Order: sequence, then C-alpha cells, then structure tokens
Amino acid sequence: MCVVAVLLLLVAALCSATLALDNGEMRVPPMGWLAWERFRCDLDCEHDPKNCISENLFIDMADRLAEDGWRELGYVYVNIDDCWSSMKRDEKGRLQADPKRFPRGIKELARYMHARGLKLGLYGDMGTHTCGGYPGTTLDNIDLDAQTFADWEVDMFKFDGCYSNATEQEQGYPLMSKALNATGRPIGYSCSWPAYQGGLPPKVNYTELGQICNLWRNYGDIQDSWDSVLNIINWFFENQDVLAPAAGPGKWNDPDMLIVGDFGLSMDQSRAQMALWAIMAAPLFMSNDLRTISSGARTILQNKMAIIINQDPMGVQGRRLVKEKIGIDVFWRPLSKNASALVFFSRRTDMPYRYQTSLSKLNYTAGSYEIYDVFTGKSMALKDSAPFVVSVNPTGVVMWHVSAPAKWNPRHFYKGGRRQGPAFDGGEENAVPPVFL
Ligand code: GLA
Repeated sequence: MCVVAVLLLLVAALCSATLALDNGEMRVPPMGWLAWERFRCDLDCEHDPKNCISENLFIDMADRLAEDGWRELGYVYVNIDDCWSSMKRDEKGRLQADPKRFPRGIKELARYMHARGLKLGLYGDMGTHTCGGYPGTTLDNIDLDAQTFADWEVDMFKFDGCYSNATEQEQGYPLMSKALNATGRPIGYSCSWPAYQGGLPPKVNYTELGQICNLWRNYGDIQDSWDSVLNIINWFFENQDVLAPAAGPGKWNDPDMLIVGDFGLSMDQSRAQMALWAIMAAPLFMSNDLRTISSGARTILQNKMAIIINQDPMGVQGRRLVKEKIGIDVFWRPLSKNASALVFFSRRTDMPYRYQTSLSKLNYTAGSYEIYDVFTGKSMALKDSAPFVVSVNPTGVVMWHVSAPAKWNPRHFYKGGRRQGPAFDGGEENAVPPVFL
C-alpha cells in the first residue's frame, strides 16, 4: 500500500514538473487570416462598409478562404482583432460585441465559420483596456471572459498586453491559460506577453511560455513595409539561439502577420517573407484583403511546398547558418524524414547576386540530394561536394526543399515478397542532419 502511495505521489510530482499546455492544439503552426494589420480599427461602417470592423468583413474573408482554395491548404482561422467589442460589458459583467457592427453576435459568427470548416479567433487584452481603448480583461475578469469565449464557441484567443504592468502580466497570462483549459473547450492561446517584456530572457521565460501558450508574439507589430519585415527578420535570427529552442509542436514563436498581398512588398520581398516565415515555423496569419488580392500574391501564399515546409510535423524552428559580408544570408530548417529546407536571401540593393557555395559547405553530409526549387518548381540532383551557384534577386530569396540522400534500402523494397515502399528512400541510417554553424 505504502509503496503504491509513494509511487502515485512520484507520478503526480513528475506530471506537474512536465506540465505543458496540453490542449492538443496547434501541433503545427496555425494558419489563417487576421484582421489587424490590413483593417486596423476602421469603425466607419457608414462610409467604408466593406472595410470596417464588422461581422460582414469576417464573413467575406471566410467565404474567400472557403471558396478560393485557402482552406484546403490549411488556412482555416478567421481571427478578429481589436475593436470588436462594445465599450461596455453587459449587465452580468460579460464582454459583448458591438451591437451595430456585430448584430448577430460572436457565437453566430463562430457557427458561420464552423459550418464552412473554418475556425474563429478572438482578441482580448490583459489589462484595463485593449490597445485600441476597448474594455480589457483585468485579473478579476479572467474566468468569466474565458467562459464567455467558450460559450461563444471561439477556437483561438489572442491575449494582448496593453495597460497592465509586469506583475499583472505574470499572474494574468498563466491564469488565462488555466481558465481556458478549465472551460473544456480546446482554444488555441496566443500570448503577447513576451512582446511587452522585450522578448528576451531573463525577463521572458520561454520554458514557462511553452507550458501555458500555444504561440506568442515576441516582438513589435508588423507594418506594411519591407523595412518592417526586415527589422523583424533581423531580430528573430539575431536571437535564434534563444528563440529556436523555445518552439515545437503546440508552442510557436510568432513574428506577426504575413503582409503579402498588401501594398508594401514587391513580389521578391513577398517570397522572402513567405520563405522565412516557413523557415521560422511561424504561424501563417495573412492580414490582407482576400477579395481583391493579386494573383501574384495569391500564388506565393498558396505555394504548396512553402506550406509543407512551414507545417512540417517535427516542428523544429530553422536558423541562419551563414551571414556573408557581401549581403547574402543562408537559412536552414531540418524537416522530418531527414529532409531540410534552405533559403538563400539577399540584402543587396544592386542586382541579382550569383552566390556560389556547396551543400558540404553548408554542413550537409556526403551524398546525392534531390533539390526542389520552391518558387520555380524545378528539380535537380546535387552532390554534397558539387559547387553550385544560385542567383538571388535584391531583397529576394531562392528557396530549396532538400530531400535526404537517395540510398538503396532493400528493407523498404521487399517485405513478405511484396514491394512496400520506394526503392530509394531517405536513408534513415546514414543521413545525419547538418550541424549548426
Ligand atoms: C497591439 C498588438 C497588435 C494589435 C493591436 C490592436 O499593438 O500588438 O497586434 O492587436 O494591439 O490594438
């Protein structure tokens, strides 16, 4: 009896020591659409009915996601950001949607999404007010608000951090995690907490974040410009030694929305954002107008291989391997089945740069690899030792999916007299992932 009790205690202790946000959500980076960057806090439904923050905007985007091929690729979240609520809580103290702009209420909107195989995300703020000045969630309202979101059948919740101090945030973010879990409804939980604490240890505890949040904003808001995208890229890769180990299935760093399809990026810059967000295992929330998006931007956002790389089930965040003085960076992400992704990125502003290297210089082990160029769709075989040249446009990328070296593996060829799998495969035994530089 006594031994059993001790064992039980031990198991309980071990469980609490390894407690993670075990809501089963977001085992791969979430994908969808988020209103903020493109539509901000446009309240002028009278003069700008198509673009103001109202249920019509979210219905329009849901229709586009469902009808224009996005949903099938994984873009399933439709996320409301700031400025959705009424300025006052209801008579029971609950948050409520602005009755003019969301006459059918959030629950109806969630049902609209669910009927189309989509999910609804909602926004709130740990503090007295949201960043836009709407009612916030102070510590005493956390349980009530979590229950309200669950009652509304919300699938994801972004918890911003305006108008609160570090001590309140330290209490509020874990409490909201518990409160959401306690509702019994799986709700993906996005925490802006680290962004309010500078994004780096010792102020930010990434172990704790991984245990309480599914994703978190580490850094400032993205704006519709290349400057802003580049600034984010620089910060995330300068701090990759801290950030990359924090990410994994169910817990992601969030460098903020994709602005591909808006006004600030060229096609090359758009490919660069898509490629590096895939390398970073970043959530892919587009903030653009899916009703009027150009076919060029759509092709980039719907690139199947870029999405496969982003959604790789191993969930390892990639890194910068090389930062050349001449303005070329090389990024790498290990993928499942011993595959990997490479991105050659140019910071130059003159002309396409012919960058020469080899896979062995990039720490790949000996062998012949299958290369698939993500944005041209061309394939080729490449030996580790063979020097190659990629031509990288100014502020653009070349992105490769690299398959493991082909290797004859009789185990996979005949099993019980029948051919079971490919004659050549990823060579699990001998394909060692490249070493970090
Ligand atoms: C903050 C967040 C943004 C957005 C706005 C809304 O700035 O970081 O992503 O939610 O608030 O007011």
